Amino acid sequence: MILAIETSCDETAIAILDGLNVLSSKVASQIKNHKKYGGVVPELASRIHTETIHPLIASALEEANITFQDLTAIAATETPGLEGSLLIGLTTAKTLSKLLNIPFIPINHLHGHLYAHFLSETPPVFPLICLIASGGHTQLYHAKNHHDLTIIGQTRDDAAGEAFDKIARHLGLNYPGGPLIEAKAKTGNPKAIHFTRPMLHQGLEFSFSGLKTAVIQLDKSAFSIEDICASFQAAVIDVLLHKSLAACTQYNCKTLCIAGGVTANQTLTETFKKACEKQQITFHVPPISLCTDNAAMIGAAAHFTHKG
Ligand code: KG4
Ligand code: ZN
Repeated sequence: MILAIETSCDETAIAILDGLNVLSSKVASQIKNHKKYGGVVPELASRIHTETIHPLIASALEEANITFQDLTAIAATETPGLEGSLLIGLTTAKTLSKLLNIPFIPINHLHGHLYAHFLSETPPVFPLICLIASGGHTQLYHAKNHHDLTIIGQTRDDAAGEAFDKIARHLGLNYPGGPLIEAKAKTGNPKAIHFTRPMLHQGLEFSFSGLKTAVIQLDKSAFSIEDICASFQAAVIDVLLHKSLAACTQYNCKTLCIAGGVTANQTLTETFKKACEKQQITFHVPPISLCTDNAAMIGAAAHFTHKG
């Protein structure tokens, strides 16, 4: 019975898992607090985590209908993330583990995103390729088994989600940019502008800062915001898909998983699904609530760490 804590950025999240069975999963988003600043303010994020974490733990225990004494381990995101925010979750987790005399399990946030897949009734089968596309990271993993996860490609500069957020800000949309760009893109033409597909044929590394500059330098008077959003989104999806399929070929993997906030994008998941069908690759994407930050995925990663 694991209590899992996630405080790496602007969500305070708590989950309780009995094995891989999620008894409760709570996410307290801080978006409304950061919106007026156009992005996450780290100091503010830490302060809100401090205020939110204990009531959220209490309500998660209540929903799971258990007490602290029923817990057998405490897990928390250890890295990567905002230092101050991580510290709140880690200190809470370590204190609880000492008080209750049960193990503390530190979890890598990005491994957590991958482990969202293992909460599914039909989890992926190893070996697999996993694309993690979040606000701070874009990484490709080759996973041979639970103990052998290797990064085989990552971004050299901006992450995919970061590009969405920066472009949204530039276009006068709010924060976080991903869902707002996706909404505008729905009525736009993805072929209106051909943005460069950075490093498309250069190995498994990504680069999104050139694409960001291309959008910023575009003469916006000539296009609608919907067309700009749709064309930008198409370029990001194209690159992510191309590299993910290249990784499957290079590592001879027939299973592709995607995870992280950017994979909440429905145009992205539809595009991946169709492409994988064509290439007879088994495709997995978690439900939207498990794509964006949550603590259930941290609990799932801890379950496998704990089990050994
Ligand atoms: O994984 P996540 O929730 O937090 C991090 O670990 O960073 O990812 C957040 C990122 C943000 O950059 C956000 O704009 C992006 O995911 N995102 C999306 C969508 N929903 C969230 N990007 C594109 N389309 C979306 N629907
Ligand atoms: Zn994340």
